Amino acid sequence: MTSPLLIVENLHKTFTLHNQGGVVLPVLKGIDLTVNAGECVVLHGPSGAGKSSLLRSLYANYKPQQGQIRIRHDSDWMDLVAAAPHEILDVRKKTLGYVSQFLRVIPRVSTLDIVSEPLRRLGIAAEQAEDKARALLSRLRIPEAMWSLAPATFSGGEQQRVNIAHGFSVNYPVLLLDEPTASLDAENRQTVVDLIIEAKARGTAIVGIFHDADVRELVADRLFAMQAYKDAA
Ligand SMILES: Nc1ncnc2c1ncn2[C@@H]1O[C@H](COP(=O)(O)OP(=O)(O)O)[C@@H](O)[C@H]1O
Ligand SMILES: [Mg+2]
Repeated sequence: MTSPLLIVENLHKTFTLHNQGGVVLPVLKGIDLTVNAGECVVLHGPSGAGKSSLLRSLYANYKPQQGQIRIRHDSDWMDLVAAAPHEILDVRKKTLGYVSQFLRVIPRVSTLDIVSEPLRRLGIAAEQAEDKARALLSRLRIPEAMWSLAPATFSGGEQQRVNIAHGFSVNYPVLLLDEPTASLDAENRQTVVDLIIEAKARGTAIVGIFHDADVRELVADRLFAMQAYKDAA
């Protein structure tokens, strides 16, 4: 039986370039997308097609002008387009995870604190949260000596692995992944594929962008084709 966790309906998004004479740049035109529990939908299309903009809209980082993003939250449905800021924060805390393309480094906060923070925020005891964080950092081959350091000085690939550990710390029912494997070597790429397959087996609904065709093959249940707005019919 299929169980939808995310239903996007007729989503429209434009950017207004205020510093360029108010030029209006349309990016999403009537997006309809349903994602079921245990399914990974991969956004597919050329650079500039609006894939990252769609993911950011799904995370309520961007505000669409029209349409709905309904998400199954606390055994109810919530429309993220219409939701109040505190409701969005509650959805992000319990229901919706997001691995962005780049880690937003917070100065002076240790790697272990960054990765365990989403669990602690859910009320999980610090010790248990840190155990989970350590397990993820080990799987992603971040050396133990780095766990107490802030990731500001880490390499791009190391920062991305911290970002992935942070995104997978809580078993969110819905997970958004924006090119999580882009700067990783083959071994770590495989670890991320394993994490995704394990999440799907738990019933997580995933929307992802994967530049790498091999990764796409391994994780995608289906592709969602996108094209640049100017090329759309
Ligand atoms: N914050 C923004 N402000 C203005 N334009 C943006 C912004 N983010 C993305 N765009 C534009 O929207 C289009 C789609 O970008 P993006 O969603 O990053 O595509 P993709 O991830 O498929 O490469 C591009 O033309 C890009 O320049
Ligand atoms: Mg992108």
